Amino acid sequence: MKYKTKSNMGEREEKVEMENKKKVIAMNGSPRQKWNTHILLEKCLDGAKEMGAETELINLYDLNFKGCISCFACKLKGVIVRKCVMKDDLEPVLQIICDCDALILGSPIYFDSITGEMRSFWERLIFPYVSYELKPSSFEKKINTAFIYTMNVPRFALQIMGYNKIFRKNKRLLKNTFGSSTSLVVTSTYQFDNYDKYAITIFNGNKRLKRRETVFSKDCEMAFLLGKKITVNTNN
Ligand SMILES: Cc1cc2nc3c(=O)[nH]c(=O)nc-3n(C[C@H](O)[C@H](O)[C@H](O)COP(=O)(O)O)c2cc1C
Repeated sequence: MKYKTKSNMGEREEKVEMENKKKVIAMNGSPRQKWNTHILLEKCLDGAKEMGAETELINLYDLNFKGCISCFACKLKGVIVRKCVMKDDLEPVLQIICDCDALILGSPIYFDSITGEMRSFWERLIFPYVSYELKPSSFEKKINTAFIYTMNVPRFALQIMGYNKIFRKNKRLLKNTFGSSTSLVVTSTYQFDNYDKYAITIFNGNKRLKRRETVFSKDCEMAFLLGKKITVNTNN
């Protein structure tokens, strides 16, 4: 059979193809664009694109929003709320997520946790689907999720610092809410464009730069494969 290109495809066929395309969304919880978290999310979306997905990367720091304000509108009796009712820049984003096939979150570690913006987003994303009646998540379908974490600490310190526990907890919550979750943990990141400019003695700029060229490129490959995986094995 002749391979179908956009030009020889009928308008209706093209529409069906658009409708059937997997939608994969990435949320950047770093204030910095084109840095570690953002780059890894882009690689992940490249993997998704390779599997034919339509992708979008949203920078949380570009949006004006707050965390959960404890209004409990999502827990009122007899009302099935599919997402947070607060009206701000997150409203359309949460709708996009309701309609997507896979969701990737990315956050640097700030003071042993995810960034403030990612935390606020996390509350708004997950709390509406959490039941106070021992019922399963009220998210309408099953989607794949992933969480990419970037940080200064080396891999060997993850256990001592208690980071693995945080990653496991987040993974469990994402899995229970949306259906599945995978974590990618990227350590000892390259933090500045020029280490000589800053007052630092505890990190070695040359070692970090070398690591960026060797290990970080492998982390990017892992992110790419992750993007492919979460796009192919969608379970909805
Ligand atoms: C305010 C602040 C707090 C940080 N706290 C930690 C921390 O507790 N643990 C850690 O491993 N790295 C910490 N870092 C380093 C970042 O997690 C790390 O550089 C990360 O890769 C930055 O991501 P980005 O390049 O995408 O912005 C901190 C950085 C900042 C700016």
